[in-house]
Amino acid sequence: VEETLVLVKPDGVARNLTGEILRRIEAKGYSLVDIRLVQADRDLLTQHYAEHEGKPFFEPLLELMESGPTVAFRIAGNRVIEGFRMLAGTTDPTTAAPGTIRGDLGRDWGLKVQQNLVHGSDSPESAARELALWFTR
Ligand code: GTP
Ligand code: MG
Repeated sequence: VEETLVLVKPDGVARNLTGEILRRIEAKGYSLVDIRLVQADRDLLTQHYAEHEGKPFFEPLLELMESGPTVAFRIAGNRVIEGFRMLAGTTDPTTAAPGTIRGDLGRDWGLKVQQNLVHGSDSPESAARELALWFTR
């Protein structure tokens, strides 16, 4: 069965939305396999976000991700990678569809990086790589 990494990013944890986000994942029918509260460091974050190095939002993104704890979920289910990204909604919370996590719970706070509450792996290769990063240290 397919697995993915979901992160409740520090903005989501700070807003006490961890339970609401897990509730939506479980209500959809996906299974929680493992869960961790992680204070991410630079080394973990530069590996996790390697594809974004050099982009204007990279440094603000790392600062957001270092600003407090992240909750990591290992989630399982058929087509869960695609399915969770549908639950999350598109990257920009202002225009993410209502009914999605970002569309219902997120907004633009006028900051240098989008605070969009969650991360979900975007492919089987990313899921394997990211699960190893967040669940084996
Ligand atoms: P993730 O599930 O977090 O990976 O979201 P995503 O796949 O929708 O976004 P992406 O991987 O492209 O970017 C990672 C994170 O960087 C996003 O979740 C945002 O927090 C931030 N980000 C991405 N693009 C932009 C942008 O154009 N401007 C700003 N300010 N932040 C961005
Ligand atoms: Mg992404």
